[in-house]
Amino acid sequence: MSPQNPDTAKPSLPGSSPPAAVIVLAAGAGTRMKSRIPKILHPLGGLSMVGHALEAARGLEPHALAVVVRHERERVARHITELDGGVHLVDQDDVPGTGRAVQVALDALDVDAGRPLSGTVVVTYGDVPLLTSETLVALVKAHNDGANAVTVLTAVLDDATGYGRIERAADGTVTAIVEHKDATAAQLAIREVNSGIYAFDAGILRSSLLQVDADNSQGEMYLTDVLGIARAGGGRVAAIVATDRWQVEGANDRVQLAHLGAELNRRVLERWMRAGVSIVDPATTWIDATVLLAEDVTILPGTQLHGATKVARDAVVGPGTTLTDVQVGEGASVIRTHGTGARIGAGASVGPFTYLRPGTVLGEDGKIGAFYETKNVTVGRGSKLSHLGYAGDAEIGEYTNIGCGNITANYDGVSKHRTVIGSHVRTSSNTVFVAPVTVGNGAYTGAGAVIRKDVPPGALAVSFAPQQTTEGWVSEKRPGSAAAEAAEAARILASTDTPSTPIEEGGHA
Ligand code: UD1
Ligand code: CA
Repeated sequence: MSPQNPDTAKPSLPGSSPPAAVIVLAAGAGTRMKSRIPKILHPLGGLSMVGHALEAARGLEPHALAVVVRHERERVARHITELDGGVHLVDQDDVPGTGRAVQVALDALDVDAGRPLSGTVVVTYGDVPLLTSETLVALVKAHNDGANAVTVLTAVLDDATGYGRIERAADGTVTAIVEHKDATAAQLAIREVNSGIYAFDAGILRSSLLQVDADNSQGEMYLTDVLGIARAGGGRVAAIVATDRWQVEGANDRVQLAHLGAELNRRVLERWMRAGVSIVDPATTWIDATVLLAEDVTILPGTQLHGATKVARDAVVGPGTTLTDVQVGEGASVIRTHGTGARIGAGASVGPFTYLRPGTVLGEDGKIGAFYETKNVTVGRGSKLSHLGYAGDAEIGEYTNIGCGNITANYDGVSKHRTVIGSHVRTSSNTVFVAPVTVGNGAYTGAGAVIRKDVPPGALAVSFAPQQTTEGWVSEKRPGSAAAEAAEAARILASTDTPSTPIEEGGHA
């Protein structure tokens, strides 16, 4: 399998070294989500919002990466550490505002480095999930090329309500950012807004923050005040305008989250189609940003691919299939299947209406057919579980055919037991394997067999109670029923049936 990911190519920093640090601001409460889950932990495209922020930051290859936390501190910290063990978690104190958030982070990074950081410090938000590394690279490049004190990423919006407004001088440099709540009518008319994403010179950032107060309508330390202070100190403050507005859009409520999620999905699908994947119906296909697909994969309508799912060349997935952390081998077919934590071999076929649970490993050219549930089972090359059954805690060899309706009785109500079935075995319909039990290579089982004892290689195992037939049971026990009537009609028909031919009987023809 050779999954290809066009995203693995790292953006490069032409002519400049990586930034000293990226600081991701994530201390806010996010009350508009109306959720017990912290805002930045809400997922889209298979990653939490803060997960996307960390991915974008990591793409810059910064020497240090810090996330400022406060709201739901423990839960957020645990989540971030799980995603990226190299992140410095910085706690914001009682002093509110984006300026204070950056100040505590910078202090912590300085202490950690044992000296004041120098070079470029990038600031981003934990709730702006579509921002890419490429955009951050362009920001840092503009910052370095202009030898700027501060470079801010901006956007021009039709409705700038709520955002900080960008005030520019005649030469295009930035004179100040004015928060919406502190703006005059003339300033409110400005449509260029602050995205909240910046590159700073570390030294200027540190000294400017010392001058930031909370003398504003919100009583907060505004990071945006640094721009005016840096300019007053003789620094060049510049802005670059993001042409792709999605990249600076934050999610404050669940409506915005779904909106951004849909756009992210659209981008992921487009990227894969351009990389050689056929997606028949993008409108009903959802693919996480974390999924890997190869060339000439076909995704049929109504399909969702999640997590660490990987699909190899020429495989066909869907319609109506949901796979999470599933590996699909080259040329395999997976139809109307719900799968988690499974591996499907090259050329294998799964579905329709199949439930693959964790630990399912299907060998090359194998088959798990309709109405099958599997869990923790290894199926060897060319073996087939074609219809109606359950296989759990089992190991099946190569080129074995499991008959219709076979079940591994793996659970005795207390613990799970293993079923081991060899290669080239043929089991008949409705065989039940009462685990722990072993069936040797080349063995056969009879219909309805309940296999409680090991079957040696090449043996036939049948287990049956003799069939007992009680004539006339229905007319005696169920008189007047439809069944009794049908039985009576059949009896009359059988008794009037004569073995003679019509010609002999009719006499003339
Ligand atoms: C901020 C900017 C504004 C910009 C807007 C873009 C300031 C003063 N204003 O406004 O110019 O247009 O973002 O979205 O910076 N945070 C902390 N600690 C805090 C406060 C905030 O970590 O004490 C984090 C939040 O979690 C969030 C980000 O900083 O991720 C922005 O905070 P928010 O309160 O949303 O800032 P805005 O008022 O929207
Ligand atoms: Ca905001």
